Amino acid sequence: MNTEFQINLSKTFSDTLINWYEINKRDLPWRDTNDPYVIWLSEIILQQTRVQQGLPYFNKFLKAFPDVQSFANANEQELLKLWQGLGYYSRARNMLVCAKEVVNEYNGEFPSDFNNLLKLKGIGKYTAAAIASFSFKQPVPVLDGNVFRVLSRIYGIEDDISETSNHIKFRSKAESLIPNNAPDMFNQAIMEFGALQCVPKSPHCDICVFKAKCFANRHNLQDVLPVKKKKIKKRIRYFNYFAIVHKDTILVKERKSKDIWKGMYDFLLFEAELEQNFEGLIKGDAKFLSDLGNLVTSSSNFKHILTHQTIFAKFFMLAVDNREGFNVIKTKFELEEIKVIELDSLPVSRLMDKYLKKETNYLT
Ligand code: ADE
Repeated sequence: MNTEFQINLSKTFSDTLINWYEINKRDLPWRDTNDPYVIWLSEIILQQTRVQQGLPYFNKFLKAFPDVQSFANANEQELLKLWQGLGYYSRARNMLVCAKEVVNEYNGEFPSDFNNLLKLKGIGKYTAAAIASFSFKQPVPVLDGNVFRVLSRIYGIEDDISETSNHIKFRSKAESLIPNNAPDMFNQAIMEFGALQCVPKSPHCDICVFKAKCFANRHNLQDVLPVKKKKIKKRIRYFNYFAIVHKDTILVKERKSKDIWKGMYDFLLFEAELEQNFEGLIKGDAKFLSDLGNLVTSSSNFKHILTHQTIFAKFFMLAVDNREGFNVIKTKFELEEIKVIELDSLPVSRLMDKYLKKETNYLT
């Protein structure tokens, strides 16, 4: 046995992993700092978001709000506008609450302790562990989809990761592996390893530093591990929007209820259990509208896919020539009147944005 091979075999998991990381890591801006504000910002943006998609948002936010104090002074609409396109908008709303908590309750300094971090709005176990380890070198492991995959494959953990009660096993394993002298590197490295090497489909096992030891590789179980049984049940919704215009003004509505896109703007909305067409709608909920306005355009069908729901949306643009009629609609449905050109500055969902970009030549 040559000496190099002996050295390799005697290395611990974390040494091998961190070695791999130092050679293969991507150069990402949030890795150049241990400022907890920057770590917090990047980790919240990167939840459910790919790095390439998150990067421009990270840069934009850091420029607009260089520290937690400036973030805490932002207003929600401004944040939602900057967040537009990233999805899961509750993240942005929670961040504002969290920034205010840090400023008011912690004198503008993020707490360093995992349990105190967990108490902050929008900070769950993952983000608390990321901040505690990356900023304060606390040996708390991060567990995300990448980490579950890496641990389940290398160590042959066959518990279903869609059951939260099974996470304790992964946590214990990670706790036994994370080194006290480099918890930040370990956490970055294991996530990076999952993102680049031990990828979900066709992982690069032939060139893997763990290939000799990895349970999944030895048993050819890469496609089986990690076990994930529960499929997300999707709710199907049908949205019928009415964009009501009068000259250069349009009626919009801020979404206020506890539903998707709270705090963002859309148009008068009739939601239905089943797909509807214009003729069907004007017999029911929208009868009132067709009496007062003329249909200008009907959009194509938009299919908008979110994690827990699929939305089929149609947009009908109605022109109301008569000012009184326009006022009646505005009051009855509690809508706000804005200039059409102001639409651009409102925070809107990606669905609305797609519609506005694709089908509103008429308006501009
Ligand atoms: N995804 C979530 N957190 C990340 C990080 N710190 N680096 C790269 N990708 C990530």
